[in-house]
Amino acid sequence: MRILKNSKLLFIVLALILVLSACSSSNNSSSNSNTNSGDENASSGEGDKVTIVYARGKDATGATDAMIEEFEKQNPNIDVEFREMPTDTGAQHDAYVTMLNAESSEIDVFDIDVIWPAEFAQAGYVLPLDRFIQKDSINMDDYNQGPVSAATFNGKQWAMPKFIDAGMLFYRTDLVSEAPKTWDDLMTQASELKGQEGTKFGYLMQAKQYEGLVTNAVEFVASYGGAFIDENGEVVINSPEAIKGLSKLVEIANSDFVPGNINTFTEVESHTAFIEGQSPFIRNWPYQYALANDEEQSKIVGNVEVAPLPEGDAGSAAALGGWMSAINNFSEHPQEAWELLKFMTGEEGQKIDAIVGSHAPTLPALFDDQEIIDANPFFGEEGFQTALEAAVSRPVAPNYPEISEIIQIHVSKAIAGEETPEEAAAAMEKEMNEKLEK
Ligand code: GLC
Repeated sequence: MRILKNSKLLFIVLALILVLSACSSSNNSSSNSNTNSGDENASSGEGDKVTIVYARGKDATGATDAMIEEFEKQNPNIDVEFREMPTDTGAQHDAYVTMLNAESSEIDVFDIDVIWPAEFAQAGYVLPLDRFIQKDSINMDDYNQGPVSAATFNGKQWAMPKFIDAGMLFYRTDLVSEAPKTWDDLMTQASELKGQEGTKFGYLMQAKQYEGLVTNAVEFVASYGGAFIDENGEVVINSPEAIKGLSKLVEIANSDFVPGNINTFTEVESHTAFIEGQSPFIRNWPYQYALANDEEQSKIVGNVEVAPLPEGDAGSAAALGGWMSAINNFSEHPQEAWELLKFMTGEEGQKIDAIVGSHAPTLPALFDDQEIIDANPFFGEEGFQTALEAAVSRPVAPNYPEISEIIQIHVSKAIAGEETPEEAAAAMEKEMNEKLEK
């Protein structure tokens, strides 16, 4: 009897310990939210399904849906809810800043533009990934080093490179016999072709006052041998070369072969007009290729080729863009967030993204993958990877948004004729110097 009583007591004590330890471990996982340090025990026990939220701008190509579908298939314990953010990178940036300044845990994983890591790391919005990278033995040398270093700040890795963007010229093979070599050739062809075969315009670009205008301006300026800020951090925009580039941008944005309201065009307005068959030429990022060949959306399937952007006096120049994935520092599910991030930025995810979305991989080995090349023959063309590597970066600074705003304002004024290119360059020089001195 006594033995029985004792063993009953033992059972009750054991049961109590179990219940208490379960409670305390779930408390740990929820109190973990604001002090994330990459703790892999933050997930709930096996069998529990966790929902994480992944945010990025609208992906017109369908690649994001395809990646999420495959990830969920391979990770039955993780559900991914997709949160669509504004497509305009500046508006998207501001939405994240508002959310993360308030230490919100409403998103877990999100994509960040190559120009944000320093700012987001310094503000404490994103989780350092070094622990996860080491634990899963990910070799950062497998990645293209440009985006890797763009996501490194204070010696830590804040995001994983997902795809690289570089500005390119897409043209209609049914209208254009030879891609224009120089900006002047482009102008001649665009004038001649406008109106042919139902086109309304000759050239499409992004000239709204927003980040995309900065990338178009970087390309014009660099193709004439200028720059905004050089590699030593000196402001060099007020040079004859840079002014020549700005003048060419202004001339093209004011010609009668671009839409009259080109100062409202972002990527979306320009890619829509292009796939509607309204123009023989467009300057855009690689995703344009997948979109132009999407039977469900495009009227120009099979009629699109890619070339380097036209040359100025100093050659052709592409702006470097691209996106990386990061984990919200306030996420309540950092481990699950990492699993999704690792999948999307690893070989399998990038392969889906490249095939369905024409997003250029940040893992150079994928350029040898035949299925990727079959889907995007231009990835395999000589010079494509070299062009990616030679692409011109925007200034790297934690206060990049302020620098960008100065460029956006004055280039817009020059397009609108409110400032000459000379005046715009002088004003940018003065204002950028003031910001950088601070
Ligand atoms: C693309 C680029 C990004 C750039 C943006 C500008 O999304 O990848 O780096 O800032 O376009 O609109």
